Amino acid sequence: MVDQRKHWNKVFASKSDPELGWYESDVSQTLKFLDLIPKHEEAVVFLPGAGTSILVDELLARGFRIILNDISDEALSKLAARTGRNEESLIWLCHDISRPLPDGIPGADVWIDRAVLHFLTEESKIQGYFANLNSALRTGGYVLLAEFSTAGPRKCAGLEVYRYSVQEMTRRLGKTFTLLAHEDYTYITPAGEERPYIYALFKKNSGQ
Ligand SMILES: C[S@@+](CC[C@H](N)C(=O)[O-])C[C@H]1O[C@@H](n2cnc3c(N)ncnc32)[C@H](O)[C@@H]1O
Repeated sequence: MVDQRKHWNKVFASKSDPELGWYESDVSQTLKFLDLIPKHEEAVVFLPGAGTSILVDELLARGFRIILNDISDEALSKLAARTGRNEESLIWLCHDISRPLPDGIPGADVWIDRAVLHFLTEESKIQGYFANLNSALRTGGYVLLAEFSTAGPRKCAGLEVYRYSVQEMTRRLGKTFTLLAHEDYTYITPAGEERPYIYALFKKNSGQ
């Protein structure tokens, strides 16, 4: 079985950002969905599998506090070299997002996952991920999932992936979440290859 931490550390240690098959110099597809969410001051965004995404710089510029999660300490070190540790706005969390979150993590108002959930292929890990999402996100919060769609490739970064439809996302989130918007989106890799994604934005309701 692949050691996920070693695998991702090797990827981030051996490639520059623009060489990564998911690199974006422009994160407007994600920001478009973020702009559908009513703004409120000092909102906390949870970024599972943040990698080295420039979404972090964009969120900082918009005044969010961010919980930066990744399984790869190499990715988080590269990100910290760019952003600074920025203790006021950034909370660093090197952790496998399929495993229970440590105590003391602040509740999140927004959860944004681009290209992370689809790397969890075992049912127990997928369920662990959704349990974390549910416990970390406050009532009234929002979740954006951007994953390979059912038309997407079966592998990425040398790993098998689990592909999603909006129906499966909706089913896995359960009745406390309402689907607000969704869109099929074809991301073009730096090598010019097409990667079909599904983007879906949900709101967490009070439960009853
Ligand atoms: C394809 S990259 C996407 C990175 C970033 N979200 C972006 O859009 O640029 C997948 C990221 O998820 C991280 N990752 C993979 N499995 C993970 C896990 N189980 N827990 C936390 N992070 C994970 C990887 O280290 C990597 O940074």
